[in-house]
Amino acid sequence: MFHNIPKAIQERMRYLESINKRDRVNGTPDQRRLRQIPPETGKFIALLAGAAPEGTYLEIGTSAGYSTLWLALACKEIGRRIVTFEIDKEKCDLARETFRRTGIKKTVELVIGDAREYLQNYKNISFCFLDAEKDAYYDCYEKLIPRMMRGGLLVADNAISHKEILKPMLARALADKRVDALVVPIGSGELVCRKL
Ligand SMILES: C[S@@+](CC[C@H](N)C(=O)[O-])C[C@H]1O[C@@H](n2cnc3c(N)ncnc32)[C@H](O)[C@@H]1O
Repeated sequence: MFHNIPKAIQERMRYLESINKRDRVNGTPDQRRLRQIPPETGKFIALLAGAAPEGTYLEIGTSAGYSTLWLALACKEIGRRIVTFEIDKEKCDLARETFRRTGIKKTVELVIGDAREYLQNYKNISFCFLDAEKDAYYDCYEKLIPRMMRGGLLVADNAISHKEILKPMLARALADKRVDALVVPIGSGELVCRKL
């Protein structure tokens, strides 16, 4: 998967990485920044997505589609599709451009809106990457876990960088008997939960 990343995907990744880096230092307001995961987190979620059972694949927080590109690499390899949610219309435009330029429109479905209003429509969730506003995490967790299949994986970003604001959700997950859970110190810290 990492040895033969198509050129169009590599180019779009480099482009989005450069915008993300520039926005961090030039005073772009937080809400407008892409706030992407770093490449090593991209590889980590792609490895997990590639190892998840067959079922419904979700991502919450698309931004411009950078993390989606990593997940799409895994999905393409194993013949699966992923639904990704983004609430911000301008970021949806960027994400659409990302998916068009990289030829992954058939692998990815972009849903515009607050993911919390859609999650009840999904079942047999076998993989979800959660990377949205931190105040949405607890609610997303409670909606996702009952809809996940046995062996399904939930990966939540910023488990270390935002550990204070995420404390209630992290405590809930780490004590939750429905899952095995662990915080992995990669990138901003990834909470990984496996449904029992
Ligand atoms: C940290 S960024 C995601 C970065 C992206 N995962 C990446 O690494 O390329 C968070 C994104 O989640 C979106 N978002 C926040 N709350 C949301 C919600 N409740 N439903 C859908 N999208 C949401 C924001 O607009 C923002 O673009």
